Amino acid sequence: MSNEELARLGTELDDVTIAYRKERFPIPNDPAEKRTVRGITIWLIISIISGLAFLGTYLFWPWEYRSHGDEGLMWYTLFTPALGLFAGLAILALGFAVVLYVKKLLPEEIAVQRRHDGGSEEIDRHTLVALLNDSWQTSTLGRRKVLQGLLGASGLLAGLAIVAPLGGMIKNPWKAGELGIQGDGTLWTSGWTLANNDVKLYLARDTGAIAQPHTSEAGTHMSTTGITRLVRVRPEDLSAGGMETVYPLPQSYVNDGDLFDETRDVYEDHMHSIHGPRNGVMLIRLRPDDAERAIEREGQEDFHYGDYYAYSKICTHIGCPTSLYEAQTNRILCPCHQSQFDALQYGKPVFGPAARALPQLPITVDEEGYLIAEGNFIESLGPAFWERKS
Ligand code: FES
Repeated sequence: MSNEELARLGTELDDVTIAYRKERFPIPNDPAEKRTVRGITIWLIISIISGLAFLGTYLFWPWEYRSHGDEGLMWYTLFTPALGLFAGLAILALGFAVVLYVKKLLPEEIAVQRRHDGGSEEIDRHTLVALLNDSWQTSTLGRRKVLQGLLGASGLLAGLAIVAPLGGMIKNPWKAGELGIQGDGTLWTSGWTLANNDVKLYLARDTGAIAQPHTSEAGTHMSTTGITRLVRVRPEDLSAGGMETVYPLPQSYVNDGDLFDETRDVYEDHMHSIHGPRNGVMLIRLRPDDAERAIEREGQEDFHYGDYYAYSKICTHIGCPTSLYEAQTNRILCPCHQSQFDALQYGKPVFGPAARALPQLPITVDEEGYLIAEGNFIESLGPAFWERKS
């Protein structure tokens, strides 16, 4: 049987009734058909150009972070919108081209089919293939080589616009960059690692202060000058049974107390510390009776300062912030999967899926009475991974 006969047979066997069918352009080379093809071609070309623009932007645009006042800030801030614009345009134009093709070039048809139960029979499967072949032939796409090429290219580029950004997520986890307030890019460092380089790090709490309107000759604009986001903490700032989340604050970025200078802008630097993925630390002040019962881990006996204990806030299960502290039981709770850690026993897990103790930060107080890190953590932070020794 020819393909056409098989297709017809398949239609009948499937209980499909063709109620209406009409070719869009029964006469070859109809001028209206040419106009339609031109319209589809234009959309496909727009899609291809947008796809190429997306790839060019993704590969060559100056995307590195720029802070306020840095040269190139405008180009940096336009990076993400440009990616969105070109990716959206590539996919949208491809969509328009396909819709236009289906609505203007495919034969107009109304078919009605009766439903039947169970799986399809052998003959149905064969005739289905024939029907698909028939659809391909009647779509006339086989003879429209230019449209075929454009459709393939724009489909490929639109697909790349979706897949290519995933490449940015692939990183070498062992490649260390420059050590800064967020670590050096490897999983076992954080802002506290700067203590290894003799940087004095204060335990600082987040005030939540945000940029303020500032009026000058140039008009009113938002300014972070003089705004202090992180301030140093003294032991007396915490009452017994209290907990405070603190972040590393290098001495050079201190802008509070005697060192406050309203013309300094350290806001960005403070925000980098707050956003450091492994920087958060829970500073806990135990009640005196509880502190007497505290059990120190071997090698960490002098990590606490009196009743003050500092544990990494990053859960050792899969890295959520262990934000809850229950003073009655001295337990630290991770809200993600309910792991509980005992603050009286060096942050040891006592319930839930976490299997390792929360790393403890060695702390003390400097000559001015501010809490500081006495060194870095002695183990890596967060979830277990293969480099971890503890
Ligand atoms: S991440 Fe904390 S319990 Fe799962």
